[in-house]
Amino acid sequence: SPLHSFLVELPKCEHHLHLEGCLSPALLFQLAAKNNITLPSSDEDPAYQSPVTLAKRYQHFDNLEDFLQCYYRGMAVLITQNDFEMLAWEYFTTARRDGVRHAEVFFDPQSHTDRGIAFDTVVAGFNAARTRAEKELGITSCLIMCFLRHLPVSSAAETMQTAITGGYFDVSQDDKQRAITGLGLDSSEVGFRPELFVDQYREGEKRGLRRTAHGGEEGDPTYISGALDTLHVERIDHGIRLTEDPELLKRVVKENILLTVCPLSNMCLQAVKRIDQVPIRTFLEAGVKFSINSDDPAYFGGYIVNNYCAVQDAFNLSINEWRVIAENSIHGSWIQEARKSELL
Ligand code: HPA
Ligand code: ZN
Repeated sequence: SPLHSFLVELPKCEHHLHLEGCLSPALLFQLAAKNNITLPSSDEDPAYQSPVTLAKRYQHFDNLEDFLQCYYRGMAVLITQNDFEMLAWEYFTTARRDGVRHAEVFFDPQSHTDRGIAFDTVVAGFNAARTRAEKELGITSCLIMCFLRHLPVSSAAETMQTAITGGYFDVSQDDKQRAITGLGLDSSEVGFRPELFVDQYREGEKRGLRRTAHGGEEGDPTYISGALDTLHVERIDHGIRLTEDPELLKRVVKENILLTVCPLSNMCLQAVKRIDQVPIRTFLEAGVKFSINSDDPAYFGGYIVNNYCAVQDAFNLSINEWRVIAENSIHGSWIQEARKSELL
């Protein structure tokens, strides 16, 4: 795109990034070798023959479910605190290259604790990379703990209890190695309604946690309204099916709810056929605030600037429209006003 270097330089924030979604085929094979993890045999899944065949596999997903199978399978190679730190560090160095100044990143603790990895191993590794990213790269960040909606609610409840007991929500202690700032909700959407997790979100709200949830990616607009009404979320992750309910769209504008849109993800998972079907123009014209994000960059063919450029190729936005989008990503961040002023 002719705007490429302008889009790189533009100060921007990322809000929809799964750290586990940064596991590139190269890092996956490297960690499998180091940790003696046996990858699926060629009978079980021929994609795991080499990083090259795996990268090819990532170019075709039928839908969210097909992607999630790959995503959960890959995580088996993540074992030690240092593995989690390396994974997050891979993200932050690439984010720096792409001009990201502040990142609010997701992780899926249940996908690790279910494999016998301790909650603290995961958080300590990710937070070590965050501390280093702030010091060495000038990127501030916060950590958002997601519940996997396909697992029983009792598992989310246990995860919440682990985080509470371990003091991970206790911001007053100002302990960077422990801090978790917000709650999110991800994995299979259709059939796993947001209302199921009301108790966990109510508890989080009571403790002053920020709140978001995936919604309207594959699910209809009632998955968006359900998250607003019962989980009291401040953002919706994806939210592209909001256009199907004009009244709900008006409410999202009025209540200043930010959508974290992920164009390359939507195309890879066939939520849209082409990038120009992501409702960027509709949202801009209706005054819906949104940020543009990479979701799972190792799987969907690119980091944040690839997403900005794909949108530019499809919509040919003006410089001024880009400034508005990037400024909205700063205004919609969960940071203090002083930090926002630095970035604006
Ligand atoms: N949707 C739902 N769950 C996910 C996603 C997503 O885009 N990425 C990682 N887990
Ligand atoms: Zn996501």
